[in-house]
Amino acid sequence: MRLSVIGCGYVGLVTGACLAEAGHEVVCTDIDKQRIAQLQEGGVPIYERYLDKLLASARKAGRISYTADAGEAIRSGDVIFICVGTPPKPNGEADLSAIDHVARQIATEARSAKLIIEKSTVPARTGLELRRALTAYSRNSGLCFRVVSNPEFLREGTAIEDFFHPDRIVVGVEDEASANDMRQIYRPILERAFHCPVHNSTCPPGNAAALLVTTINSAELIKHASNSFLALKISYANVIADLCEKIGADVEEVTRAMGLDPRIGGQFLRAGLGFGGFCFPKDVQAFIHLAGTVGVDFDILKAAERVNKQRIERFFEKVRQALWVVKGKRVAVLGLAFKGNTDDIRFSPALEVVKELFREGAQVHASDPEAMPKVKALLPEVHYHQDPYEALRDAEAAMVCTEWDVFRDLDWERAGKLMARRLVIDGRNLYSPARMRQLGFEYYSFGRE
Ligand SMILES: NC(=O)c1ccc[n+]([C@@H]2O[C@H](COP(=O)([O-])OP(=O)(O)OC[C@H]3O[C@@H](n4cnc5c(N)ncnc54)[C@H](O)[C@@H]3O)[C@@H](O)[C@H]2O)c1
Repeated sequence: MRLSVIGCGYVGLVTGACLAEAGHEVVCTDIDKQRIAQLQEGGVPIYERYLDKLLASARKAGRISYTADAGEAIRSGDVIFICVGTPPKPNGEADLSAIDHVARQIATEARSAKLIIEKSTVPARTGLELRRALTAYSRNSGLCFRVVSNPEFLREGTAIEDFFHPDRIVVGVEDEASANDMRQIYRPILERAFHCPVHNSTCPPGNAAALLVTTINSAELIKHASNSFLALKISYANVIADLCEKIGADVEEVTRAMGLDPRIGGQFLRAGLGFGGFCFPKDVQAFIHLAGTVGVDFDILKAAERVNKQRIERFFEKVRQALWVVKGKRVAVLGLAFKGNTDDIRFSPALEVVKELFREGAQVHASDPEAMPKVKALLPEVHYHQDPYEALRDAEAAMVCTEWDVFRDLDWERAGKLMARRLVIDGRNLYSPARMRQLGFEYYSFGRE
């Protein structure tokens, strides 16, 4: 099948690369001409494990191409994946202007019937508005546009694995023909008929993904409801951590035991600096806003959001307790991305930490395996070090902000010899408090003594 992908960010490139690997012909476009030029030259504008290999092999096989001409991309595919950004407005509402812009382009540039797949995360009822816009702007009333909601559940850092081995593929449709087309598009994924770069084609046996056919409104709601629930879990774990500190318990012991109950599950119960990234903060806000517009009280989610915002302040209570005066001190910040294995810094708690350190007058030396180029443009006053040990040299404190394995595996004995003071404030609970103390460190983390 010939597919077009509009929006070459994390979701668009992963979707394009994986569906090309699965045998489809894919044409990608983006409003950012520089990004398209970079992709045409074989570059990859984002860091995501295995993505570079997949794009290179799809390109070599002639199954993926890029164009800055949206009209060309729209005309060349029978199926169009919309993967543009849906950032938050100041009031929390999702900004759908990019979706609206793309709808107009499709309506005016299409010369044949299209199946239009909304992969961007959008509030419920967007699909219906999208169809209305397509009809309103179309120059040819005889053209048929079918709209499908196909929310994406991939996680940055494991996006390729998630796309090839999804728990579920949700398709919100208005007719049986669209459901059948979606089954056809995803058949190679459902039947595992692709070369998996993650497992080198020896993928562990597992339950086949379920393809769930729903209404468009339900599909849109499923995405917001899922992300918001995970955000709730994280905030819940963080409140438990605060309680553990006051009462004298260990949050890791508590959440590990909680997670063994299959009704609860162990994931997303990690205490720390809280959630960030381009999904959870904005999706929680958009869901709260959506509920508000229809008069449904979502206080439980507002509380989760409030708890999350307070994590930085909770972290700085530890910083002040440990360092006393922050002004003039040299500190090492380990991690800038919003989580490990990505270069994405959008709504990253680590950047909030860095900004607060500057407000308090600290000198910041930072290290992150992939995110530094993106942060350099925003925060030129930070001293950047590819080698984390260089960031730690002469530091009076180390602040761990992102759970990269390279930080988890740091040799703290070696680091301690380089640092001006053996002090670690761990925003991701990466290390054993007992072990750190044994190495002579003053060690602070969340919810543990
Ligand atoms: N990043 C994730 O982990 C993730 C996971 C699931 C869903 N989502 C959702 O997918 C959507 C995209 O997220 P992302 O992280 O890939 O964003 P992104 O910012 O990385 O990518 C969006 C791309 O769309 C392009 N774009 C914007 N307006 C355009 C237009 N009018 N025409 C063509 N291109 C345009 C941008 O230039 C950019 O390259 C969002 O709605 C997001 O919530 C993201």
